[in-house]
Amino acid sequence: MDKDTIIEVKDLRVNIAMPEGTLTAVRGVNFEIGKGETLGLVGESGCGKSLTSKAILGINDRKCTSLGEIIFDDIDLGRVNLLELNPRGKEIRNIRGKQISMIFQEPMVAFSPMYTIGNQINEATMLHITKDKKKSKEISLAMMKKVGIANAEKRYNQYPHEFSGGMLQRALIAMALVCNPRLLIADEPTTALDVTIQAQILELMRDLQKDMGMSILFITHDLGTVAKMCDRVAVMYLGKIVESAPVREIYKRPMHPYTQGLMGSVHKIGSVKEERLFSIEGTVPLALNLPPGCGFYERCTKRIEGVCNYYNPELVDVGEDHKIACFAACEKCLENAKLAKEEELKKQAEEERLAAENPKRKKTGGKR
Ligand SMILES: Nc1ncnc2c1ncn2[C@@H]1O[C@H](COP(=O)(O)OP(=O)(O)OP(=O)(O)O)[C@@H](O)[C@H]1O
Ligand code: SF4
Ligand SMILES: [Mg+2]
Repeated sequence: MDKDTIIEVKDLRVNIAMPEGTLTAVRGVNFEIGKGETLGLVGESGCGKSLTSKAILGINDRKCTSLGEIIFDDIDLGRVNLLELNPRGKEIRNIRGKQISMIFQEPMVAFSPMYTIGNQINEATMLHITKDKKKSKEISLAMMKKVGIANAEKRYNQYPHEFSGGMLQRALIAMALVCNPRLLIADEPTTALDVTIQAQILELMRDLQKDMGMSILFITHDLGTVAKMCDRVAVMYLGKIVESAPVREIYKRPMHPYTQGLMGSVHKIGSVKEERLFSIEGTVPLALNLPPGCGFYERCTKRIEGVCNYYNPELVDVGEDHKIACFAACEKCLENAKLAKEEELKKQAEEERLAAENPKRKKTGGKR
């Protein structure tokens, strides 16, 4: 990870303990975000976007286990693997809300109905900025004004149910930004809003980013929003990144059949027309007992029989900071997959040979 990178996610897997077995909903995700950069994370419902973002903050529920590495450039500790920190320890509490904060998908869920909006924004300010109540209230009010909440003094004492959807979203942004985070995770921040409010909120986020110089992980279904908000984009399918590139590059040259499907009717960056474009046949399968091969195989119009249902493509750099995991789009993917498969078969054969030579060893291995 170089000095301009704020976070690097390496081979992240999220396992969920289910009655039917372990569901690996995030299956080896890799990406990094530069300082001041906005990375868009795009993909259909259920592909693992929220699990990935919550793994960064260590806030997935108890039946989820995160594996791999999430290296964050902490202001005090330097490079630190967030997955190795005690989830209730001082270090992670010094990161959550202060250095990394999140705008959640559901504003109504993010706020408690029992406390006033001001009270809830102020909680973060008091925890991370100042214990002085008067100063803390001033900072919280200033942020409410900054995100465009009119009559902020009056609004400060109101409860979430007294706010409209757009106002509540602004309050959520105020709560996420009040401590001046270095990385903001925005999970579908405008999905619940009508188009006019959406545009206002996005503009507001862009302005605040310019002011504060923060990095953003921007999660969305909407490729029109990606074009407006992001520097780079990572396309996710069935718990894996299948393509990533700078925004202009991916609009000019989408290579993965899934990305091409998503791009279907987006004609150019900045197009006024914004549509949801998921017109790909079929749905994302559940990541439980998946067959070998590419996860997109069943839905792919370019699939190669005997290859795509046998090997698993991994991301390969094809130049211009463009990475792709697809056999039809990249020969190198196939070479790499063949090598990985050969290695796997060799390892398996070696284990079988050792087990045949020494049956006791096999028994011990089996117990593990
Ligand atoms: N706590 C959980 N228990 C069981 N399954 C879960 C849990 N959380 C997520 N999943 C499953 O993991 C997969 C990925 O979920 P995730 O919420 O990350 O999707 P997403 O990409 O954010 O979708 P959306 O766009 O609808 O928000 C889905 O199949 C979902 O049903
Ligand atoms: S690897 Fe094969 S199945 Fe997967 S997206 Fe590429 S062509 Fe389609
Ligand atoms: Mg989600």
